[in-house]
This record gives sequence, C-alpha cells and structure tokens, in this order.
Amino acid sequence: MFKDKYIQCLEREIMKTGQGETSALKFAYDDLSKRYRSTNESGFKSNAEMIAYVHARFPATYAVLDHILQHEIHNKNDVKSALDLGAGPGTATLAALNHFALSHATLIEQTPEFIKAVSAVLRPSFPASEFNLISESVHKFTFPKADLVMLSYLLTEMPEVQALNVYEASLKATKAYNLVVLPGTSAAFKLLLQLRDRAIALGYRVLAPCPHMQACPMAQNADQWCHFRQRLSRSRAHQDIKKGTMGYEDEPYCYLLVAPGESANAIPGVKGRVINTPRHRPGHIYMDVCSPSGVIETRCVTKKDKAAYKTAKDLHWGDRV
Ligand SMILES: C[S@@+](CC[C@H](N)C(=O)[O-])C[C@H]1O[C@@H](n2cnc3c(N)ncnc32)[C@H](O)[C@@H]1O
Repeated sequence: MFKDKYIQCLEREIMKTGQGETSALKFAYDDLSKRYRSTNESGFKSNAEMIAYVHARFPATYAVLDHILQHEIHNKNDVKSALDLGAGPGTATLAALNHFALSHATLIEQTPEFIKAVSAVLRPSFPASEFNLISESVHKFTFPKADLVMLSYLLTEMPEVQALNVYEASLKATKAYNLVVLPGTSAAFKLLLQLRDRAIALGYRVLAPCPHMQACPMAQNADQWCHFRQRLSRSRAHQDIKKGTMGYEDEPYCYLLVAPGESANAIPGVKGRVINTPRHRPGHIYMDVCSPSGVIETRCVTKKDKAAYKTAKDLHWGDRV
C-alpha cells in the first residue's frame, strides 16, 4: 500500500481511539523527542504522540527499512514469514510487504492503540489466519519462528541487559534473516557491537553491513561509529511537526543483519562496504572502505582505470563494493 495513504489510514484509526488532539502534535513530538534523547523509556503517552510519530518518525524509519530490505536481502524468495518486534505502526512489516511475498506476519507491540490501528490497515493484506497482532510486551512473549525477524528502533528503548535477552530470543526465532535497526548514534552503535558479538558467539553469520566476522575496526575509536544515512522527502505535516524548513531530511541509522550459520544466504563476492561519503577530486575518487579482512582501507580509484572509475562514480556511503 502506498506509504502516504497508510499514514492517513493510521491517523484516522488512531483518532477513533480517543479525542482528536492534532493541534497539539508539535508539542507532542517535542515531548516524544526529549524523552527519546534523555531516557530509554518506551511507549507513547497520548494519541497526539502516536500521530506525531506516524507523521514525523514513521516515514524515516520506513525509508531506512525499505532501503536495507531492498539492497541487503538478495534472495527475496527466502522470505515468506515475518516477525516484527516492537512493531509500532507496523513500519517494518509494511516495508517487508514491499519486497517479499509474505504469507504470514506476527507483530508484537505493547501499545494497544497502535495494534488496533495497524490491524485495520494491514489485516486486509493477509489471509485471515496468517496475521497475528499481539498487544503484549516482548519480554512476556515466546516468539514464533519466522523467516525474517525485525527489531526496528526497539532495543534502545530498554536497559541493555533486557535488550540483549530480547535479541537472543529473536535470534532463536530466526529461520533466515534477523535485522536490527537502531538510531545512528554512537550510543546505539555501542549496543549494536554487543549484539554483533552475541550473534557471532551463538554461531550466526553477519551479512551486513560488515563484510567480515572479525572484530569491528571502529569499536576502539571513540570518534568513529559505523552508521549510515537515508535521505527521504518530508510531507507538509512532517515539516510542520518538526518545525523544519527543508523538504527532505537525512535519517542516520545503524543496523545489523545476520543469518543462522547453516543457511546459505551470504552475498558472494563482497569486497567491502563504503563507510562514509566518497571524496571526488579531479581524476580521482577516494573511498573509505571496511574490507573483508576487517580493517578500514582508503581506496583511490583513478580515471585511468576506466571500468573501476565508472563504477566508483556511482558509489555512495553505505554501498557494498
Ligand atoms: C521507536 S518505536 C519503533 C516502532 C517501529 N518498529 C518503527 O520502526 O517505526 C518503538 C516501539 O517499540 C514499542 N516497544 C517498546 N518496548 C516494548 C516492549 N517491551 N514490548 C513491546 N513493544 C515495545 C514501543 O511501544 C514503540 O511502538
């Protein structure tokens, strides 16, 4: 379903659950953002906060999910079922529907109003018995197995020990791919490193963003953290709520995609990952690349090497090489 229509439908459904509070959206968004920045407290305190989230955060988290699922999961036929933990407005499931012929989805979300709204909007996309919406805390639920398990912007909403426990349980429920997405902050990256260590220790293979299973070369450098940026356009409501003047924004994010050790879903021939914006100079392009041997290399492609230069011209921060 088209994303903007989805936002309108969700807004309508959330409004049905309580008094209309749309005039308070800017304040609600400010409160929500302050809470996100200063605590790892989870959840929404009002309908206005949920609607503000749907207008001002959902488009960004959707754009990130959509990009990762499109570019990092190559064998689209591997994915028939999805588990979306801390589903919020169903962002990850909606993005997954864009790329896979899903026949089964389970969404677990603690906010009942979101569950009701998502049910009304997404249920028609699935056969009746194959769509499970669970209004429950992820801490209280035994996860059903799914081909693709997604934890989108969830794990920074809880203390670290709980985040690691939820992640481990989610790995056990993973048949083909497990995807964690977090804000692109250095604090979130520290958590991501712990999740990566845990996944490797339990025998899972890292598919992305790392082109290797060695220690992360950015782990010891306080000024560097592995993150990426996704550009998206802003609707008028999105701009108003964020009091922004630009018609677009760049959403910073970190992510980790792993697979159970025995499955065969690695992408062959990966030579590295571009870890920041390539620098274009006359006749040269410089790129910082995380390499398969687990070190960061600065590669220089010159115009003399025509084929490599042509390829390098189209490479962006976050691309595989
Ligand atoms: C930042 S939102 C992300 C929503 C959605 N996954 C996305 O990417 O847009 C985090 C969501 O996780 C939910 N959440 C936080 N802790 C939870 C828990 N223990 N159990 C279930 N849901 C939880 C919150 O209610 C919220 O909807």
